[in-house]
Amino acid sequence: MAKLKWGMIGGGEGSQIGPAHRLGALADGRFEFVAGALDHRPDVGREYAQRLGLAADRAYGDWQEMLAGEKDRSDRINLVTVATPNSTHFEITKAFLEAGFNVLCEKPMTMTVEEGEEIQKIAAKSDAICAVNYCYSAYPMVRQARDMVRLGEIGKVRLVVTNFSHGHHGDATDADNPRVRWRYDPAMAGVSGQFADCGIHALHMASFIVGDEVETLSADFASTIPSRELEDDAMVNFRMSGGTVGRLWTSSVAIGRQHGFEIQIFGETGGLRWASEQPNQLIYTPVGGRTQIIEKGEGGLHPDAQRLSRVAIAHPEGFPLAVANIYCDLADAIAGETRDGLPTAEAGLRSMAAVHAAVRSAKENGAWVDARPPMFR
Ligand code: NAI
Repeated sequence: MAKLKWGMIGGGEGSQIGPAHRLGALADGRFEFVAGALDHRPDVGREYAQRLGLAADRAYGDWQEMLAGEKDRSDRINLVTVATPNSTHFEITKAFLEAGFNVLCEKPMTMTVEEGEEIQKIAAKSDAICAVNYCYSAYPMVRQARDMVRLGEIGKVRLVVTNFSHGHHGDATDADNPRVRWRYDPAMAGVSGQFADCGIHALHMASFIVGDEVETLSADFASTIPSRELEDDAMVNFRMSGGTVGRLWTSSVAIGRQHGFEIQIFGETGGLRWASEQPNQLIYTPVGGRTQIIEKGEGGLHPDAQRLSRVAIAHPEGFPLAVANIYCDLADAIAGETRDGLPTAEAGLRSMAAVHAAVRSAKENGAWVDARPPMFR
């Protein structure tokens, strides 16, 4: 089977997420890396792209040059990844989608709900795929949890409790470091800091596993380091379309926590727990029974978890292979297969609506507000 051609915007040398995309996209031999505009400094981006093996004529200086260079080629890219800072996602994703390219956009997909609705409308009308990189949803044991819920193995879900909290911005003496400060500056980060950065992964995961959408929410935001305009800590209560109660805590000042993303699903006949720091295990407790550890790669997993477990049982798989699972689903979807686990523009839009709803609620002392995008009310 011929490899699909892949290009990347952002993710330059030293970026946080760039290497995970390159490892993920190339892990299964489904894609080859042929084009890129990798850095906000054109010359630096061109030089790095060629060091990564791209031909000089496809090592572009910026995304506009890349779009112009790729769109009329007979061997144009089949997929472009947008891994630039948040405020650029909308214009780049829109331009490539409108030119008929399949796009994988980093989260958050846009800065406003209106932009999110525009992308959703373009994607709905187009044959091109627009996916959003909610990569935690592609861990095999998250897929196992989703299928256990779908198949009724823990009964109707009553409650979801999730948190995504780290302490890497907890040092007040480092708050003015430019790499940290922009995340809490509305001019650079938009309306929300920590909730838009990490909270939306947790909220997406709740919907992904439970299978229902977030309808209403009530938020409490805090800037625990007073110089910060945007929140560095948030507690969000929510209700889902099926009546499930949701509780979410996200923080960047939780010193001692490295990457604490955890979700617990409590149903009428059992409970599940998954944590990103132990991603190969799903903890399952049937009502009245003993707690069990379900391992990635073991026999008897549901098919999606089986399909996405690549390395033998007991050998750890991690973040880049979860990203690789997103690329596998994308390669299948480009080939015409249905992959309902793939996070789409709709998920990106729903996150943006929830972010803006949470900001509104926090300003109104935690009032309950509608968290749905206007077009889905
Ligand atoms: P970063 O600041 O570490 O790197 C950004 C890269 O994009 C740099 O190489 C920079 O030169 C390049 N860049 C900036 N503007 C550009 C432009 N206009 N054209 C081409 N290149 C440009 O940022 P980081 O942490 O890698 O984040 C990038 C995106 O990925 C963000 O939207 C972030 O929210 C998302 N992200 C997602 C994660 C996930 O788990 N899905 C994890 C970490 C980040």
